[in-house]
Amino acid sequence: MGDIPHRTWFHFVAEFLPHSAKPLADLFSGPGYMAAAARAAGRVAVAVDRHLPFMRKAQGICADAVALPFAAGVFSALTASNAALNYLTDTTALGRHFEECCRVLESGGVYVFDVCPPERAALLAGRTFGALGGKVRFAHRYASATRTLTTTVRIHNGEEISEEHVQKIFEPAEIAAAAAGAGFEVLRAVPNYGLPAAGENVPVMTYVLCKRAATAPKV
Ligand SMILES: C[S@@+](CC[C@H](N)C(=O)[O-])C[C@H]1O[C@@H](n2cnc3c(N)ncnc32)[C@H](O)[C@@H]1O
Repeated sequence: MGDIPHRTWFHFVAEFLPHSAKPLADLFSGPGYMAAAARAAGRVAVAVDRHLPFMRKAQGICADAVALPFAAGVFSALTASNAALNYLTDTTALGRHFEECCRVLESGGVYVFDVCPPERAALLAGRTFGALGGKVRFAHRYASATRTLTTTVRIHNGEEISEEHVQKIFEPAEIAAAAAGAGFEVLRAVPNYGLPAAGENVPVMTYVLCKRAATAPKV
């Protein structure tokens, strides 16, 4: 993921961080680039992913983002980058994920993530892209009826490795409903971390959610 500007993305994240001594957790972290960017910016940050080999590299915590192994209110902020939420299989998983995020955040804590919107998935359909000097190639297929984006990743690194990634493409209304249902307010929904999008590319959408303060029960 050497082509991906996690440090630049973190500048956007930093604008929304509450004044709090509590740490940040980068969910769906992969090898931990966003957590590293947060640490480089002076934050205490932990990487969290369910895939153990990534965790060994990231020295993070191996956990599923729909069942987080943390106590309530322990984090000031969460991040999830590179369309990682699209690995959640459906809106039920998305809702559970947001509930877990809300639970582990302190009141006023923020969750900043990006997702692949339907227009981007449709544009990617049938296209092939290279990264890391051609060592990695991505070929996309999109089924609009089920809003499923399937990406075949081929890695040429001495030996040839091929993987298939299936991502669910959520509508903005589904994200807004799941976020509100979990107790979040949507502070922002902007393209590409507020950065200009290159050419005709339809960028990812970046969301900033804030955990609403609990309202006192009416007596
Ligand atoms: C596209 S990678 C994103 C990597 C990283 N966020 C970045 O910006 O480079 C998606 C990651 O999500 C992880 N993942 C997928 N579903 C998950 C889940 N339910 N809980 C935790 N991690 C998950 C995968 O193991 C993978 O590392």
